Amino acid sequence: MKGKTTEYLLQMKNIVKTFPGVRALDGVNLDVRPGSVHALMGENGAGKSTLMKCLFGIYNPDEGEIIFKGEKVRFLNPKQALDHGVSMVHQELNQVPETTVMENIWMGRMPKNGLIVDDAKMYQDTKEVFERLNLDIDPKEKIGRLSVSQRQMIEIAKAVSADAKIVVLDEPTSSLTEKEVDHLFRIINSLRDQGCGIVYISHKMEEILKISDDVTVMRDGQYVFSGSAKEMNTDQLITLIVGRELTNRFPEKKSRPSDEVLLKIEHLKGMYDPTVKDVTFQLRKGEILGIAGLMGSRRTETIETIFGIRTRADGTIEKDGKMVGNHNARESIDNGFALITEDRRQNGIFAGLDIEFNSTIANMKGYANKLGVINEKKMEEDTTWVIESMHVKTPSQKEKIGNLSGGNQQKVIMGRWLLIDSDIMMLDEPTRGIDVGAKYEIYQLVMDYAAKGKGVIFISSEMPELLGITDRIMVMSNGLVAGIVETKDTSQEDILRLSAKYL
Ligand SMILES: Nc1ncnc2c1ncn2[C@@H]1O[C@H](COP(=O)(O)OP(=O)(O)OP(=O)(O)O)[C@@H](O)[C@H]1O
Ligand SMILES: [Mg+2]
Repeated sequence: MKGKTTEYLLQMKNIVKTFPGVRALDGVNLDVRPGSVHALMGENGAGKSTLMKCLFGIYNPDEGEIIFKGEKVRFLNPKQALDHGVSMVHQELNQVPETTVMENIWMGRMPKNGLIVDDAKMYQDTKEVFERLNLDIDPKEKIGRLSVSQRQMIEIAKAVSADAKIVVLDEPTSSLTEKEVDHLFRIINSLRDQGCGIVYISHKMEEILKISDDVTVMRDGQYVFSGSAKEMNTDQLITLIVGRELTNRFPEKKSRPSDEVLLKIEHLKGMYDPTVKDVTFQLRKGEILGIAGLMGSRRTETIETIFGIRTRADGTIEKDGKMVGNHNARESIDNGFALITEDRRQNGIFAGLDIEFNSTIANMKGYANKLGVINEKKMEEDTTWVIESMHVKTPSQKEKIGNLSGGNQQKVIMGRWLLIDSDIMMLDEPTRGIDVGAKYEIYQLVMDYAAKGKGVIFISSEMPELLGITDRIMVMSNGLVAGIVETKDTSQEDILRLSAKYL
């Protein structure tokens, strides 16, 4: 095969990979041209990450061929893949918090002076990579002290530092700010100009159409489509991904909020600067209140302060006309609050345990009778509910949650909080990393919840989503409330303008 020219840099042909009870890949093809960005799309559990893990030597495919630079290859482990110029930024960040930034980047390939790691060279090399990428991070900083988006940038720097020909990015922008996304896109464009092939996995349609040259769609482990991304629009793409036409991206609103106030927040203030400075708002029964704002506008801090996992310096929380303390999560849950955090994958996945455990863990009180005997049947029923209502793709409820696809793990955690009997649900970017079809299901669940006279606070950075499902939108700017608008009377421009009010 050597020396044979081909228009493709990488070809994966007819790849098959099975796990116990799951045919994760059933004859998938992927052809990546040099100097191109290739989007890999499909619903949660379609097999995108698995396909890339087969390339990267994490999994050994059962069948199929991989041809890289005209030669048949089969990498036995990620190190071998990296050595040959294939790198991958994973959907899950597996960094060790105690290690330093530079140790992370050069893990397994640190420069050595005899037997000893050459720290000075490693520092210098890291600096050079960061300069090339315009990253302002101290190579000696501990990983644990970085934000999630910085950690994601570190992974990208690692891929770039390997001088890779193929760079796989598995949902790289899930926690990046808009500015960081722009920055990443510039990095991707320069890699493309250097002749690299970039495989880009994302559920964000608009983003995909902006950055990609080609697109491949998978469904249920099968190869569905490949073509030029430049000739496609969002609707065509969605139809290919879900396998049917999705006429509406949002369910129809059937109920209206009542006039009764459910939650009253007054002059909420956080403890450590910069933080929530002064937030006052009300949530009515049956209402879905969106919170919009730029990254850093303190939306997450606001709801975490209400939930008691951040210290409140000042302000009051009143529910149903009564003052509540909410000094910690336990107390808040007892007071009828539920919080679905932004960092679902980091907060609260018990990867080695099964779906049942992960679904029911927050609700243990609900399963024990007065004698402390656990009602296993109820736990099983509730888990079935989570799997069915959230459309979790799994062979059984006894499957380890760590074996599910990234998006399906999120759905389970979301289901966990829906099982708790709450009156006020606060969701922080609940549809991030979730496929288009499942998003619809989440909107429907949120609307049904509100229709029972409960209240929802919904943080989102996706404007169409806020406009599509909320009743009112509170716009935050720099720790303050810039305005609260009626969704039906507002527009994307209004919200953006308010977002910048106190900058
Ligand atoms: N180690 C494993 N053991 C058992 N099943 C697995 C394992 N890894 C993946 N699977 C299964 O293979 C299927 C494909 O998963 P994969 O992670 O590739 O999906 P994905 O397309 O990346 O989805 P997402 O968009 O949610 O990240 C899923 O049904 C998943 O549960
Ligand atoms: Mg995945």
